[in-house]
Amino acid sequence: MLLDLSDLHIQFENEGQVTRAVDGVSFTLDRGQVLGLVGESGCGKSVSAMSIPRLLPMPPARITRGSVRFDGRELLTLPLPELRRLRGARIGVIFQDALTSLSPLHRIGRQLAEVLLLHRDLSAAAARDTARDWLGRVGIPDPDACLTSYPHELSGGMQQRVMIAMGLILEPDLVIADEPTTALDVTIQAQVLNLMRRLHRQNAGLLLITHDMGVVSQMATRIAVMYAGQLVEQADAASFFATPRHPYSIALLEAMPSAATRGRRLKAIPGQVPSAGHFPSGCRFHDRCPVARPSCAQTPPKLEPCGGHLVRCPYATPV
Ligand SMILES: Nc1ncnc2c1ncn2[C@@H]1O[C@H](COP(=O)(O)OP(=O)(O)OP(=O)(O)O)[C@@H](O)[C@H]1O
Ligand SMILES: [Mg+2]
Repeated sequence: MLLDLSDLHIQFENEGQVTRAVDGVSFTLDRGQVLGLVGESGCGKSVSAMSIPRLLPMPPARITRGSVRFDGRELLTLPLPELRRLRGARIGVIFQDALTSLSPLHRIGRQLAEVLLLHRDLSAAAARDTARDWLGRVGIPDPDACLTSYPHELSGGMQQRVMIAMGLILEPDLVIADEPTTALDVTIQAQVLNLMRRLHRQNAGLLLITHDMGVVSQMATRIAVMYAGQLVEQADAASFFATPRHPYSIALLEAMPSAATRGRRLKAIPGQVPSAGHFPSGCRFHDRCPVARPSCAQTPPKLEPCGGHLVRCPYATPV
């Protein structure tokens, strides 16, 4: 198993106030799989994903329970120098906002070459050639000009392409892409997604985080749905889209326009995701759920097998 995340609990502590952002999340990801992690804003997708390479700010974040095994090794207790060797080389991260991970002070060529030189035994000239090659592969029209540009000299779409090159240049075994296309306009989104699909190595695993059901329906082999810090459903993509079981998953899919969804945000489901620390009693979705029963406000449901899916709702019907 490439990635095995188990019973992860993450909380934030700000000025003595503790909020539980992620509550017992578990999933696995194998080579060749694309796991789509979906759910509305604030449900804990990024916090879960960024805990894998330990990129959460700690403090205020604290992982209070759980384990993250990557290729058999526990990452949560791995000494930092070893973890740094894995980051980039074996675990690539593509963030939503390119400018948070590109340095404004250095030219693109230097930043890409640095990543290579840090992890590979290459000459400076060979690193530059590889960087140029990857800029071409991500569809930068003039890689030579791009090598000598600063990030702010590039358009948003070009910056995002550079980010993707940066995340993939070491050909990592696991790629974590957090909303890799949300900042881009619709036509560029489609191009970038196609690019990621093409460049994604057959034997690597991709964790794709997005609000956008249209995007995951095109790319994911497996789906995990989060709501209020917990997983509420997990299933193979084909089965999920054919017969979603959790009322929240059903609502998410019903909110998705049937055609040409790419690039659009989900329509709202009535009400809002409760903020971390203010979850309702019983089922965390009960106050927005169209099929809730009185008992749903009392008993927190467990994530249980239901017709080949894992579903956190005792009233979901196996089809
Ligand atoms: N530094 C922080 N301090 C306190 N709370 C935080 C911090 N970072 C995240 N949180 C809380 O953790 C919860 C989960 O946030 P997260 O960023 O994982 O959501 P998300 O599902 O990625 O949402 P989005 O789709 O908007 O990116 C939120 O309630 C958020 O307020
Ligand atoms: Mg996020």
